[in-house]
Amino acid sequence: MTVIFHNRDIISITDFSREEIVHLCEAGKRMYELEKGGKRNSLRDALKYRTLAYMFYEPSTRTRTSFNTAMRELGGRYDGFSGTEGTSVMKNETVRDTVSMMGANHFDVIVMRHPLDGSLQWAADVANIPVINGGDGKNEHPTQALLDVLTLYILNNGKLDGLRVGFGGDLSHGRTVRSLSLALSHFDDITIRWAAEDFLGIPGDLAQLLAARGVTVIRDNTVRDVMTNVDFYYMTRPQLERMPGVTQKDIMAMMQRYRIDPDKIRGFEARVLHPLPVNSEVAEIDYRVYFTPAQAFFAQAEFGIFLRKALLHEMFHQDSYLRYDSRLPDELASGSNRLARAIRGDKQQSMFIDKIHNGTVIDHLAEGTLRAVDAVLGLEHRGYSCTTAVIAEKRNPFIKTNLPELSERDLKQVAIISPEPTVNYIKDGKVQEKFVYLLCRNTNCITRTILEDVPPKFYADGDAIRCRYCRRPYALQTRKVSAEEKQEYLRSLPAGIAPVLYPN
Ligand code: NCD
Repeated sequence: MTVIFHNRDIISITDFSREEIVHLCEAGKRMYELEKGGKRNSLRDALKYRTLAYMFYEPSTRTRTSFNTAMRELGGRYDGFSGTEGTSVMKNETVRDTVSMMGANHFDVIVMRHPLDGSLQWAADVANIPVINGGDGKNEHPTQALLDVLTLYILNNGKLDGLRVGFGGDLSHGRTVRSLSLALSHFDDITIRWAAEDFLGIPGDLAQLLAARGVTVIRDNTVRDVMTNVDFYYMTRPQLERMPGVTQKDIMAMMQRYRIDPDKIRGFEARVLHPLPVNSEVAEIDYRVYFTPAQAFFAQAEFGIFLRKALLHEMFHQDSYLRYDSRLPDELASGSNRLARAIRGDKQQSMFIDKIHNGTVIDHLAEGTLRAVDAVLGLEHRGYSCTTAVIAEKRNPFIKTNLPELSERDLKQVAIISPEPTVNYIKDGKVQEKFVYLLCRNTNCITRTILEDVPPKFYADGDAIRCRYCRRPYALQTRKVSAEEKQEYLRSLPAGIAPVLYPN
């Protein structure tokens, strides 16, 4: 198997093979050994003239500075923003445009962190230089997972198969547990044990994915129960910024039983890891644990530098550079989320109060959503006559307008209020096109934001439909779609995430 990182986007840990992860662990270990042997400077010219752009829409200490350190120690440079204040994001600039500007500024690689799930896949689609995911919402943090695996690799003497890892803290709203557990799922005989409050527990879709990838996942009652059966305990902080309405006090109450303190680790060999930062108020790791042999999280953070040096070195240690190309490929302009429905004559039209000759019928809206949909489309102010079927509001509401077509923004607004609307475009009294509009259900997915203009795309994962951006499964809810229509749609989707190709 060839291992190629050259010019590759680093978006999800599931894009790596086992061989690639081990290869990076070996490369990271070599960086670590250079450091230990006092030879840090031996690679000081490796990435001379290379520049890394960091784009941090969310706070970061370790990820950003360790990428910068890695660049500096390899002789490269870095520039960018940390926090959006002082950037044109404050002027409503989209991710697409901001990413394009980094290409135009002759950077060689982007490291980005952003609060929305799937935003990094979108950045990678748009950028014509490689993009590294430094954390997208509660989705993924692949280089954290790689450095965590490097830590396990070094502390466990090169053995990853058979590892038993405990997880604690917030397994639901963070991205590090998702990425690390998926990274471990590449290895054999992995056991994950966890203890946490229900609200902070492993999300169902992740548990399913891990089970399908052969990982044994066991929930325990207490931290000591977990400690009894693991080699490492990976603690995480509650991700309060992703739990609207939950206070620090609520969380302290939920976390109390699950904090790591000297009593809970006494008598065990397991080393305690944490991606950091620790929340000093919740103190999910009691400060006294810092001074015990169990503490391994500062070493873990330093392994982040070795891992990132190894990764950047593999990606860019070559002579050519990518020339900026300001054009965006056409395929980024449209989605793959219109599930085509069969048109059966124009019989359907006859049920409408006024038959329209040219325009759009939005059908099968959810009960009670008619007025909200009408308002969000602003039909009244767009100078188009619109018949809202008030009598039909209770059951099967629909909207008829002589707007000839709806923009992606319009369709998203509708689907956010009323999922899976059926859209009929009418021309000369006949239905020309009829489709169900699908929008990812993950409320934090970048495809759901209106102003970012990310066209929703899906791919087929066996029989499952998955969002290209946040990769969450999409379960079709409407009963209006026939089995054949669904099959036809599945057949039309790509079978995985292929890179977007640039016009040449
Ligand atoms: C993590 C992150 O941002 O996801 N931090 C990091 O990169 N080391 C973990 C966290 O913020 O809790």
